[in-house]
Amino acid sequence: MIALTLAEVAAAVGGTLDGADPQTLVTGPVEVDSRQLRPGGLFAAVVGERVDGHDFADRAVAAGAVAVLATRPVGVPAVLVEDVVMALGRLARAVVDRASGTEVVAVTGSAGKTSTKDLIAQVLQRRGETVFPPGSFNNEIGMPLTALRVEDSTRHLVLEMGARGKGHIGYLTGIVPPHVGVVLNIGTAHLGEFGSKAAIAEAKGELVEALSTEGVAVLNADDPLVRPMAERTKARVLLFGEHPQADVRAADVRLDATGRPSFTLITPAGSAPVQLRLYGEHHVSNALAAAAVAVALGMSVDDTAAALGEAGALSRWRMEVVDRADGVTVVNDAYNANPESMRAALRALVSMGGRGPERRRTWAVLGEMRELGEDSLDEHDAIGRLAVRLDVTKLVAVGGRDAACMELGARNEGSWGEESVLVSDADAAIELLRAGLQPGDVVLVKASRSVGLEKVAEALLVDGAAR
Ligand SMILES: Nc1ncnc2c1ncn2[C@@H]1O[C@H](COP(=O)(O)OP(=O)(O)OP(=O)(O)O)[C@@H](O)[C@H]1O
Ligand SMILES: [Mg+2]
Repeated sequence: MIALTLAEVAAAVGGTLDGADPQTLVTGPVEVDSRQLRPGGLFAAVVGERVDGHDFADRAVAAGAVAVLATRPVGVPAVLVEDVVMALGRLARAVVDRASGTEVVAVTGSAGKTSTKDLIAQVLQRRGETVFPPGSFNNEIGMPLTALRVEDSTRHLVLEMGARGKGHIGYLTGIVPPHVGVVLNIGTAHLGEFGSKAAIAEAKGELVEALSTEGVAVLNADDPLVRPMAERTKARVLLFGEHPQADVRAADVRLDATGRPSFTLITPAGSAPVQLRLYGEHHVSNALAAAAVAVALGMSVDDTAAALGEAGALSRWRMEVVDRADGVTVVNDAYNANPESMRAALRALVSMGGRGPERRRTWAVLGEMRELGEDSLDEHDAIGRLAVRLDVTKLVAVGGRDAACMELGARNEGSWGEESVLVSDADAAIELLRAGLQPGDVVLVKASRSVGLEKVAEALLVDGAAR
């Protein structure tokens, strides 16, 4: 963090000092978890669902915090404010305002924010020091915590911005105004909370509304709800995707036998071949978004392509591929699921299975996709049908009514019972897989986060290690 005195912190957040020396320097990190603190840090006492940060103030100070951001005196040096979360935002703004040489890139969309944020950061690291969050960190707490890690030497700050409703992205861009804003797609994630896809687009588009005339809006040319966002921004627009009018495109997209895409990256500044290390065709779109950001910031196409080819999967349970000693491949994509990512994962699974006489048996162990609102049954039905159309060897639908609907979709599409099966929970899925897996099989495990299907992938890997 760019160092600030406690007096400067208090001024930035509109707070008052309690038992604290105004000249004490805060060098960071700022943390909401008292166990993460280091000397020079600042502890933000956030009140959570289960714990109240104020109860951990003394522990944070013992760990090195020079003060606590709190709403009431806590017996240790504090900066008192009305609302700690709002204060975090204001403090982040103060730090980012002092980082005049830092270019801010923000990513939003329904699916792929974390994957794309990780790609953008890995590409931009070639150009200069880059701060970006681990995992998602995309809300009113995680995003400012990330921004607060900026140093004088930071060239890029790459942020993920999430929304559960109207105004959320506007709030985040108010804290850290981005130079480059990326909108990936408008899908059905959190449809239940928003009510309609148009409402989701309305909310995500707040990102490009926040850009200035010097900024760049990186928009998905293939998404009918993202492309029109060009009308909502003052910034220069750079389109990516398959659409012929896209500025940054991929030609000759292929998946190799392990499900990793390669393509020719085409940009206004030239073309270059790219071979990704990530699994699944959906990463082509994410990689194009990352390439558009890099090109917008002036990176050469060759450097961009090389960096994309070196980028690995930084965040866990997103298409995490592990080969067991017996030749069974486990693809753990249990981090989350929505209809778009289910389709992408099924395609990746099938390409990993390969073709012809060498073809491997493919298992899609799919749990329910949550928060889909009234479309839920139709969407589950469509995934079941797609599994059959793609010729997945066996669909294992895990869960209750929605899973039953997925399995029924598979049957209605022509599965003969052997091709699809419904089980009630993760344990039943594990039992079924243990009985049925053969060396060489490929197993995809995927569901919404709250289903907890990573348990299945983990059990399969433990089995593999025991052999
Ligand atoms: N471009 C894409 N289109 C569809 N699905 C994708 C895309 N990129 C990634 N996914 C899939 O979406 C799921 C979530 O990926 P990721 O964590 O990157 O998204 P996210 O938008 O950050 O999600 P969250 O809202 O939970 O933070 C993963 O299962 C991944 O395989
Ligand atoms: Mg995320």
